[in-house]
Amino acid sequence: MLDNDSPAIDWDSMIFSYQKTDRMYISHCKEGGDWSPGVMQDFQDLSMSPAAGVLNYGQGLFEGLKAQRAADGSIVMFRPERNASRMQDGAKRLGMPVVPEEMFLDAVRKTVLENSRWVPPMGKGALYIRPLLMGSGAILGVAPAPEYTFLVYVSPVGPYFKGGLRPISLKVSDDFHRAAPGGSGGVKAIGNYAPGMVPSKAAKSEGFAEIIYLDAVHHRYVEEVGAANFFCVKDGVISTPELTGTILPGVTRESVIEIARDRGYEVREEKVDVDYALSADECFCAGTAAVVSSIGSIKHGDRVASFGDGEVGPITRILHDELTAIQQKRIPDERGWTVAVE
Ligand code: PLP
Ligand code: COI
Repeated sequence: MLDNDSPAIDWDSMIFSYQKTDRMYISHCKEGGDWSPGVMQDFQDLSMSPAAGVLNYGQGLFEGLKAQRAADGSIVMFRPERNASRMQDGAKRLGMPVVPEEMFLDAVRKTVLENSRWVPPMGKGALYIRPLLMGSGAILGVAPAPEYTFLVYVSPVGPYFKGGLRPISLKVSDDFHRAAPGGSGGVKAIGNYAPGMVPSKAAKSEGFAEIIYLDAVHHRYVEEVGAANFFCVKDGVISTPELTGTILPGVTRESVIEIARDRGYEVREEKVDVDYALSADECFCAGTAAVVSSIGSIKHGDRVASFGDGEVGPITRILHDELTAIQQKRIPDERGWTVAVE
C-alpha cells in the first residue's frame, strides 16, 4: 500500500513508543547460503518455530536509525551505512550471516518509502527505522541457527526522554553492569538490553530518566547511559569514554566527535573517571533515539552533582543544534551524511 494520506496522529504529542505502520521488508537465508531477494509486505506478525535460535539463545541483533522530513520537503536518513556496518560487526560476533551493505541500504530505503506517510513534519519527531537480524531456524543445541531472518520495520517517534530538551537526571548504577570485557557490549545484541530493564525501571521509579553504567572491572570509569553514549565537558575540553569493546560505538557519538573537532574543540576519547564526570561543567548523552540530551544532574552513591542550573550547557547546545540542523538539512551537509529516500 502506498498511501500518502496523513495518518490520524497528533505529531506534537508523540513520545518514543511503538506505532504500527503499513509495510515491512523481509528476507531469509539458510546458514552458508545466500539471502533471498528481500520483499516488501504488509506489516504483519512473524511465524517461527518455538525452537528458533533467537527465542532460545538470543541470537539476534537490532539497529536503530531515523528518517526525517528535511527543510526542502524531502525525506532523509542519517548515515545509514554506519548502521549497516555495525550490524555486520554484530553478525560476525554472534555467528550470523552478514547482511551486505547494499541490501541493508535498499531495505531501509524501501521501508521508509513505503511508509512515507508516517514521517512526521520537520522538527516534530522522526520515523524510527528498526532493522532486525535473527536466528529464526530451529536449533536445540547451543549453536548458530540453521536459518536467519533479516527484516526492517518503522515507527514514528517523538523524544526519547520525557520533557524533550529539558536536562535529565541520571543515577550511576552501583549494583549492575551492562557489559564485560570479551562479551557483547560492543555490538547491538538484543541480549544486551533485557538485563538493563530492571535497574532502569528502578531508577525511573525514583525519578531518574535513566542510569549510567560504570565499567565492570574497576567499577570506576563511565561506560554509557542505558541506550546512549556519554560525554562531559570540562574547561572547554570534551571527553567521552574510549571504545574498548564494552561500549556501543554510536553513530551519533562518532558524528558529535567529528562536529566538535571540526569546530575546533579538543575531544578526548579516554577513560572517564566517574569523579571527573561529576566535576564537569556540562554532561550530555548522545544516541539516535536520545539525539543530544543534556544531563542536568548525576547521582552517585550519596553525592549529587548538578550541571548548568537547569539550563542546557552552551557546548551541548551548539553540538545539538548543529547535529539536528545537518539531519534536517537546515544547513549544508558538507560531510555527505544525509541520504535522500526516493
Ligand atoms: N549505546 C547503546 C547501548 C545504545 O543502545 C545506543 C543506541 O543505539 C547508543 C549507545 C547510541 O548509538 P547510536 O548513536 O548509533 O544510536
Ligand atoms: C537507538 O538510539 O537507536 C537505540 O537503539 C535506543 C533504543 C534501545 C531505544
